[in-house]
Amino acid sequence: MVRKKKLSPSGAKDENGEYHNVHVNLHEDELTVAGMEIGDEVFVRVRDGKIIIQKANPESVEHDFWITNEVYRVSYVFTRIRRFVSAFEYSVGVSEVVIRQLYRAFRPVLFALPPETAHRLVHTGLETVQQTPIERGFSNQFRVDNDRLQVEAFGQSFDNPVGVAAGFDKNAELPSILGALGFGHVEVGGVTAVAQSGNGRPRMFRLVEDEALINRMGLNNHGADVIGERLSNHRREIDYDGPIGVNIALSESTPTDEAPADYQYTYKQIAEGADYVAVNVSCPNSEGMQELQQRDSLSRIIDALTDAGAETVLVKLAPELSFGAVEDVMDLVDIFNLDGVITTNTTTERPESLESVKQGERGGLSGAPLEDQATRLVRAVAERTDVPIIGVGGVSDAAGAYAKIRAGASLVQLYTGLVYQGPTLARDINAGLLQLLKDDGFDSIESAIGADL
Ligand SMILES: Cc1cc2nc3c(=O)[nH]c(=O)nc-3n(C[C@H](O)[C@H](O)[C@H](O)COP(=O)(O)O)c2cc1C
Repeated sequence: MVRKKKLSPSGAKDENGEYHNVHVNLHEDELTVAGMEIGDEVFVRVRDGKIIIQKANPESVEHDFWITNEVYRVSYVFTRIRRFVSAFEYSVGVSEVVIRQLYRAFRPVLFALPPETAHRLVHTGLETVQQTPIERGFSNQFRVDNDRLQVEAFGQSFDNPVGVAAGFDKNAELPSILGALGFGHVEVGGVTAVAQSGNGRPRMFRLVEDEALINRMGLNNHGADVIGERLSNHRREIDYDGPIGVNIALSESTPTDEAPADYQYTYKQIAEGADYVAVNVSCPNSEGMQELQQRDSLSRIIDALTDAGAETVLVKLAPELSFGAVEDVMDLVDIFNLDGVITTNTTTERPESLESVKQGERGGLSGAPLEDQATRLVRAVAERTDVPIIGVGGVSDAAGAYAKIRAGASLVQLYTGLVYQGPTLARDINAGLLQLLKDDGFDSIESAIGADL
């Protein structure tokens, strides 16, 4: 349950001017902190790079906001969190126009934080309002319900073609609230057989001038056992009926020749909660992983998944695949009757157009600079196969989503666009797609798929 509280931090600055062990009182009508009562006294501490809000009594709930290695002044962060939550609460029942403006106003604050910290903050905010009346308010504002947007692909029904790409909800904690923000499906993960913490920080970088990100997260996730159980619980407990795909990847500790057993284990753990499984053989941040796109390696992995009873299997490709390698993968799609192709993952290439000083960071580039390359690969794959394609890479508006659909994608996904455009993006794209369909005389998304082929 979510209640309204006000935090008034006081005292406890150290000699560096940083706040530690700040003692605050909760008053009515401001910050929402689940599990705390109006009038509660709480302690706020910075521990191991997290801000901890804890009630004075031992049964209290801890609220963690990762702040990596940097310690921000607690009062500053609280003021921002409080405004953020209040703004979102205020926005329920108000038009999405207000929310768009609020995000624009709040974006500089998020962008002042390290990217992973900002992601964590947004993640925590979304998780806090998930399955509350606020989520229902979001759903009313953001979902565009229109039969013309519906897509049938690989045996699943999608209310609209716009999904969340892998990596945003790595641990399958947010499918319901992402559905309420208007997405027609969510691909969670990448999930590995073994829980892993990923590469050292910093490992995510904003290229603001380029509307792009570079990440070398290294597949940090809670592991197949935990995520599998969470997904099964979602099935029983949460109020979300859109398709959930699970992106599965190779554990860092597993040699590539043991990849089939590793993927198979992960598949078995997540199978109950997955509507489709996306075989990620294209992560550029995991040693040797892209080699798995080669014909023999991929065929052994797919064999292992089929042996385990996998029914709806898609494969996710890297954008730099050579023509020959695309042909090989397409042969496997035919041979193994694969259900779909997701194109593309991030790129290790650095287009000359990049302006940001961060372009030299190691890792996979996503966002606007990837858009055209990803659309070209959608078309190359669509020319070669009839299975549904999920087009990913640089989608940040309705025109970009429509271009991928016309190039042959049945569905699109996005991650980086959400960072730059904010929470109204799925709604904006879906509303824009309806207009674009009308302008071009199509009666549905399905009739526009592959129109440019
Ligand atoms: C921080 C971050 C983490 C990602 N993690 C994964 C992952 O675990 N598995 C995967 O297949 N793709 C992952 N991706 C790639 C995205 O799913 C997507 O393919 C790529 O970012 C291109 O889409 P975009 O331009 O809309 O971001 C990640 C991307 C980012 C930015």
